[in-house]
Formats: sequence, C-alpha cells, structure tokens
Amino acid sequence: MTSRRTKIVATLGPASSSPDVLEKMILAGLDVARLNFSHGTPDEHRARAQLVRDLAAKHGRFVALLGDLQGPKIRIAKFANKRIELAEGDQFRFSVTHPRDAGTQEVVGIDYPDLVKDCGVGDELLLDDGRVVMRVDSSTADELHCTVLIGGPLSDHKGINRRGGGLTAPALTPKDKADIKLAADMQLDYLAVSFPRDAADMDLARRLRDEAGSSAWLIAKIERAEAVADDESLDALIRASDGVMVARGDLGVEVGDAELVGIQKKIILHARRNNKIVITATQMMESMIHSPMPTRAEVSDVANAVLDYTDAVMLSAESAAGEYPIEAIKAMARVCIGAEKHPTSIKSGHRLGQSFSRCDESTALAAMYTANHFPGVKAIISLTESGYTPLIMSRIRSSIPIFAFTPHRDAQARVALFRGVQTVPFDPASLPADKVSQAAVDELIKRNVVQPGDWVILTKGDRYHGTGGTNTLKILHVGDPLV
Ligand code: G6P
Repeated sequence: MTSRRTKIVATLGPASSSPDVLEKMILAGLDVARLNFSHGTPDEHRARAQLVRDLAAKHGRFVALLGDLQGPKIRIAKFANKRIELAEGDQFRFSVTHPRDAGTQEVVGIDYPDLVKDCGVGDELLLDDGRVVMRVDSSTADELHCTVLIGGPLSDHKGINRRGGGLTAPALTPKDKADIKLAADMQLDYLAVSFPRDAADMDLARRLRDEAGSSAWLIAKIERAEAVADDESLDALIRASDGVMVARGDLGVEVGDAELVGIQKKIILHARRNNKIVITATQMMESMIHSPMPTRAEVSDVANAVLDYTDAVMLSAESAAGEYPIEAIKAMARVCIGAEKHPTSIKSGHRLGQSFSRCDESTALAAMYTANHFPGVKAIISLTESGYTPLIMSRIRSSIPIFAFTPHRDAQARVALFRGVQTVPFDPASLPADKVSQAAVDELIKRNVVQPGDWVILTKGDRYHGTGGTNTLKILHVGDPLV
C-alpha cells in the first residue's frame, strides 16, 4: 500500500478522458477525481465518473469523486470579433446595457446589474485572472469608464474581479442548483461550492444537497477577499463546511499575490483546527501543461503546502487539458513523499492542552498520542461507519498510517481525501465479536503493512453499527492470539 500521506486531486478533462490515460493516472496515485462543472456536459461527467469507478475497482483502489460547481463568477459578455488587444492608457467601458454579443475596442457588455453600485472611482478591476488591469475613472447609471493600466488581449467571457474583493453575486446560480441534482444522481462524494461569501451560502448549499438526496461532503472554495478578511469570517465559513479549498486563482487576484502565501498557511491551519479537511489548489504544476518536468519553484510550492499539512494538493489544467497528466501526478506524488520526511510533518501539538468534548474524539486523539509516542506501533485501525473517527485522527501530525475499516462504499471513497488515511473494506458485524480484532489485523498482515512483533492500535465502539460510538482503544501485539 502507498506510503504517501498527502492526497492528490486531479481535474479530469479532454486530456484525461481516455481509459488508458485515466488508468495510468490511477496507478500513478490519483486519489480524488475532480469534475469541473464549468466545462463539459452532464453526459461527459457521467461517463468520466463511471470510468473512474470501474478502473479504480479493477485495481482495488478507492478514488473519490468531487464535483466542482461553477458558481457566480462574474464575466464580461462577448466581442463582435471574439477578442481585442488593449494597450496601457486605452480608455475602455463596461456596460450593463450594451448588446451582449457586440463588444468593441471601446466597450463590452457585462451581466452584472450591480456593477456600477459595487465599483467606485479609483477601484482597480482585474480581467482574466489579472492579466489585464484597469482603473475606474468615472461612472454613469449603467457604465463604468476605465483606463487600462496593464494591457493585453481580452476575449469573450473572461472573468472580472475587483482588487480587494466586494463584487458580491449570490453563490448558487440556477446552473449550480441543477448541478447539485446531477451530483446527487451521480452519487458524488464531494461537492465544491464556488465563491461562497459566508456560512449562509454553505447552509443553502447543504439544504439543496439534502433536498437532492445527496450525502456529498461540502467543500467551500475560499476565493473571495471577504472570506479571509478576519478570523471570525474565515472560521464561520469553515465551520459551515466539511472541508475547504484554498482556491488560489481568484483569491490571489483579489488579495494580491504577495498576501497569498500567508493566507494559504492560515486557511490550512484554521481548517485543521476546526477538524475539517483542506485542499490546496491552482497552478501547482502549471508548467507541466507543456513540460514533462516541474520547475523548482513548483516543487517548492507543492512541498510548502505539504509542510503546511494540507490534506491534498490539486491539479487543474495540468491534468484536464495538459500534455503530461500522468507525469504531473507522478511528480506531485514524488514531491509529497519527499516533503513528508521533514520532521515538521511528523510531530504534532494539535489540541495539546485543550479539553475534548466527545468520547469518540478523545479515543481518536488518544490513539494518535499513543501511536506517536510508542515506537513499535506500525499502524492504526479505525473501525468506522462514516469516516469521522479517522478524520479526527488525521488532524494530528503523524508518520503512522491510519486505516479506515468500513463496509460502506461512500466512506471508503470519502477518506481518499484525508491525509494519512487509507481504507480497507471490512464489516465487523459479519464476524463473531471475539474474532474482529484478529480479522482486522490479518487484513494488514495480508497487505504487508505489519508483521509479527509489530504493534497495532485499533479503535471501535461497543456496537458494530452507528456513527459516533467509538469508545475503545486496543493496543495489539501482532502474532499473539487476539480477542
Ligand atoms: C463502526 C464500528 C463501531 C464504531 C463506528 C464509528 O461501525 O463497528 O464500533 O463505533 O464505526 O463510526 P464513526 O462514523 O463515528 O467513525
């Protein structure tokens, strides 16, 4: 079984839809496949999801599926000739009334009625992830008049942000609502919500998810300046979610690239403190879209996120549309394993000196404390219904692998995103009570994880069903008869 703890999320797209490429990506270490609902048709997403499930099953792997909602990214409309070229000093207008398909060298339409209200004179607008920058000089009732500060090409439907944030469209569009139903139908394991402003946006997403009959865990993409404006806003958003994504594309545009590294560290820390999972995303291996090797800077970026103790690192265009999707996963896997050897990846001060409020969390944390301080321990087995007990365990830094033993498909796939957690299909209820420990340890012997003489920690509850019941910690000596 793999010794890498940090998980790899890769976006699927035209470059990664053939069975052959996808199979190689799974074998190279893909843990979570991301379906980007901003592109592609429902049928394409269904076909890719089915392929991932089939190929993963063929190799005895559990690859989770994450659907990423498009969200309300504010975009300009279209140009009459698809694209224009702007130079520094040019005058340009955004208009809520200009025809949507007839942008010119001077003006383009925009589907954002509050544009004039939300932007003031002196504001900077960033187009196409900051490739083109303009300053607002004046406005009328339905137009902003700007001067180009950084020129470049501008084409149909490019995104627009305001430096400092504050363009506030509601987080869930009609398309997102339809895609939540699609995600439910496809039984996706995770659903990422784009541009949530606050906890209320996540509460709405949760309600829609429940109504659609899905049990997907919700990931809040942190990509607005407002979401990281202060600790209270950030923590409220994190608590309303099951996990977060450091969505560095739009976030970097809104807060400025120089602030981004510090904010990344803060988001990862706060997510873990709140017992939530965290994915670090965007441009991690960007040059690998066209090159079989990452740059040193990209290697450092992935390693830095691993040292911050992110649960997962993510590939976007590299795997969806790049020339080297398989190599990108291999490179990421290699860099993760290297960075995980650093001592900061192993020692933990998490929740030391804090009191616990739940019996199962206390047991999970006691298991990790024992594992990190008793050198003979080679593995932790958590009998789990939902994945919650291993989630709590995996918030603690450790080099000891955590195994989620569960009979449920959704929990098996879900833990694919938890750092340091692997899964073994296992149904304790199908065995006599005094045979469970032995059978569980035998599974790890079979997989060459442990051998006689090693120690294994096992957690469980009094009953073999139902979430939240973990109250027992066993320390087992492999090779001895176990009861
Ligand atoms: C399995 C075990 C139980 C344990 C439960 C914890 O069902 O057999 O003994 O209490 O998992 O599940 P959880 O979802 O809380 O991790």
